[in-house]
Formats: sequence, structure tokens, C-alpha cells
Amino acid sequence: MPTSNPQQLARAAVAALSVVVLVIAAACADDAEAPASTTTPTAAPTAEATPTPTPTPDAPTAPRFSGTDGRELYGQACAVCHGQALEGTNAGPTFLDRIYAPWHHADIAFIFAVERGVRAHHWNFGNMAPVEGLSHEQVLAIIAFIREQQRAAGIE
Ligand code: HEC
Repeated sequence: MPTSNPQQLARAAVAALSVVVLVIAAACADDAEAPASTTTPTAAPTAEATPTPTPTPDAPTAPRFSGTDGRELYGQACAVCHGQALEGTNAGPTFLDRIYAPWHHADIAFIFAVERGVRAHHWNFGNMAPVEGLSHEQVLAIIAFIREQQRAAGIE
């Protein structure tokens, strides 16, 4: 270093600091996306500054589902019973059956199923409980994904 001009040093320090601030800001943004991050500091009953719109008292973990990717959301919310590839499991029916084609089970039937649950009536899997924690937009994304898979399987 030829000269150690104090002004230059100060400028360098400010630049370094703003990099640090940016990195922290980015890290925080990542945290906010993660559903159950271990670093989430608000576990206390007085979680006041959380931007979550509907505070459901008995929600197991605050935001259960994030994003609007239908495939992802389906995988998180429905696949455990209806199968990752819509093939069904021993806990729920396949959607690759003609009875779930749009002319028989319109999109509204899917919305009702998620919001209100389903009384078993087609099969012997038992009832389906409502799936909580999904926004309307997320449900629509899931339905779009299901319709896409149905079309690919020739069910339309
Ligand atoms: C815990 C298991 C389980 C999960 C999770 C689940 N379902 Fe179901 N689902 C069922 C069962 C069981 C039925 C009842 C089938 C029958 O006998 O009619 C059903 C039925 C349905 C039906 C048919 C409704 C009707 O009117 O006949 C739709 C649509 C549906 N589920 C959509 C979904 C969607 C979308 C998700 C994810 C957001 C989901 N389900 C998650 C078990 C589940």
C-alpha cells in the first residue's frame, strides 16, 4: 500500500460494511422463505410482528406451505394420500381415474375437498380431512398441476 490516506480507509470501511449488510439482508430473506427454519427466533407466545395474515390458534407450524408451484404444493399437501404421480396410495384414490376428469369432478370439487374435506363415497379409503394452510391461489395451482397430469394420461 503506497499511502494510507484516512479518507480512503474510511471509504473502504463503509464499502465493506454495506457488503456485510447486504449479505445479512439476503440471509434474512432466505430465512423468511424457509418454512421451519431452526433459526426462527419467534417461538414466544407474543409473536406480534409476524406478517402471517390468518393466525390459526392450533396451527402446528406457522406457514405450512409456501410458493405457488403446483407440483411442489401437491407433493407437500396431497401426494401422501393421492400419490406423487397421482397414482393413489392405500390412504387415498388416484386422480388418474376417469371419475376425476373435469367433466365429472370440476375444479370446484377440488376446492371443496381441500377446504371442507370429503366424505368417502367412491371408494373405501375413508373420509378426507380438510387440508389447512393452503391459500386459494395455492389450491388453484395444485388443481392446474393435477389437470396437467390428467391430460398427459389421457384423462380429460
Ligand atoms: C390424509 C389423506 C389425504 C390427503 C392428504 C388428501 N386427500 Fe384428497 N382424498 C382422500 C380420501 C380418503 C378421499 C375420499 C375418496 C372417496 O372415497 O371419495 C379423497 C378425495 C379427494 C377428492 C374427491 C372429492 C370428491 O368430491 O369426490 C379430491 C378432489 C381430493 N381428495 C383432493 C385432494 C387434494 C387437492 C389434496 C391436497 C391439497 C388432497 N386431496 C389431500 C385422502 C386425502
